[in-house]
Amino acid sequence: MKIYKARDYDHLSQIAANIIAAQITLKPESVLGLATGGTPVGTYKELIKKHKSGDLCFSEVKSINLDEYCTLAPESPQSYAYFMNDNLFNHVNIKAENVNIPSGLNLDADAECKRYDEVIKKNPIDLQLLGLGPNGHIGFNEPDAELKLGTNHVSLAQATIDANKRYFEREEDVPKTAYTMGMGSIMHSRKVLLIASGEGKAEILYKALKGPLTTQVPASLLQLHRDLIVVGDEGSLKFLVR
Ligand code: GLP
Repeated sequence: MKIYKARDYDHLSQIAANIIAAQITLKPESVLGLATGGTPVGTYKELIKKHKSGDLCFSEVKSINLDEYCTLAPESPQSYAYFMNDNLFNHVNIKAENVNIPSGLNLDADAECKRYDEVIKKNPIDLQLLGLGPNGHIGFNEPDAELKLGTNHVSLAQATIDANKRYFEREEDVPKTAYTMGMGSIMHSRKVLLIASGEGKAEILYKALKGPLTTQVPASLLQLHRDLIVVGDEGSLKFLVR
């Protein structure tokens, strides 16, 4: 595991974007596993800057997103499909056919999970970007007695609903279930880039990286990954790096 300490959120975003840009430069046809949430927004901004200045080309890049809320259409501003278009895809030259996100509108959970696993199998992930949920979830793999290897249909934890309700008008509008890439697919990614910002993440980041391996903190399984890069700022790394 390599841990990089950034000065602040902007610096964290620059470091994370540099790592992703290096991946694309070395392998233009890279498969990127991508994440949503507040943390990667700055990283995506930096990637857009690199693209606009002519330094980064997404024409051969494929993307496979981690998760999507069930029942939300891609046009819904709260959907992760919308988030990705708004924060990255609409501003770079990635091809629409190379973008993959679970379909929140497919209510046949078995079929959708199977379809997504096929996508991942055909396109092994070179670099998986991850944020960290307040309860240690990655993607939407919530703390539980057991975790799933493949794409699965999850009930969102109350901590997740509480954390994500800021994006919705009312708490009741937050979907109760979602599709998420499974832990096996995340662990099989060649490289994992975990980003976390702010003191609010300090305790859970410490548990994830130094605590016992437990399904109650899904991110703790990342300790087993052979190529894990963590980029945090002063706040999130306060218990880890001085
Ligand atoms: C959501 C996403 C996660 C993300 C998490 C953290 O729950 N499903 O993939 O890591 O939010 O979000 P934030 O970066 O806003 O703290």
